[in-house]
Amino acid sequence: MKPFTQSRFVMSAALPGDLPPVGPPELAFAGRSNVGKSSAINALLGRKGLARTSKTPGRTQTINFYELEGGERLVDLPGYGYARVPRAVREQWRSLVGAYLESRHPVAVVVVMDARHPHTDLDAQLLGWLGEQRTLLLLSKADKLSRAEQKATLEGARGLAPNVRLFSSVTRQGVEECRDLLAGWLQADRGNKKPPVKGI
Ligand code: GTP
Ligand code: MG
Repeated sequence: MKPFTQSRFVMSAALPGDLPPVGPPELAFAGRSNVGKSSAINALLGRKGLARTSKTPGRTQTINFYELEGGERLVDLPGYGYARVPRAVREQWRSLVGAYLESRHPVAVVVVMDARHPHTDLDAQLLGWLGEQRTLLLLSKADKLSRAEQKATLEGARGLAPNVRLFSSVTRQGVEECRDLLAGWLQADRGNKKPPVKGI
């Protein structure tokens, strides 16, 4: 059974103490505000409005858990880097996402960056924070770039993570490929034999 064919919302955590007990394997989605993390989750799940999306940056302020067919979870993390968010909210983000990343061991973290301006200072911080954690870097909103720009962006981002893909929730570019990659990682995790971290 393909793991992405069925999904349901499980719960939201607003504070570190709300996080559910560690259990099923998780794939976490992280990145700047408004880059399209929630949209990417919907695209991968083939569900339009399951994860709430918005034109207004900072829509997702809680950690939201979605469950797949086999019990694995997709975890939508609140975005960072939106200047107009009050300082207190930024601090809350830091403590909530920090608590998540430090206390759980997701099978992989999907780092979403806007293909038009990837790798901001905060993105670099996140990648540094993730260290050796298995990472898939999505260059989102690829539909906003020409073919030539897409190619140049992909080349430029290759060194940032072992696995980098162009992605669009609108045209569905990269969706199947990313779903296969993530499903493969979940499967390997289930068998407890992790594939090499090298790019494929
Ligand atoms: P936060 O929850 O605020 O961190 O944002 P997010 O990263 O979850 O972004 P979200 O998925 O809510 O999308 C933000 C905006 O970008 C929405 O208006 C989406 O419709 C739009 N968007 C998301 N993905 C794409 C894409 O692939 N292409 C285009 N053109 N727009 C997109
Ligand atoms: Mg969101």
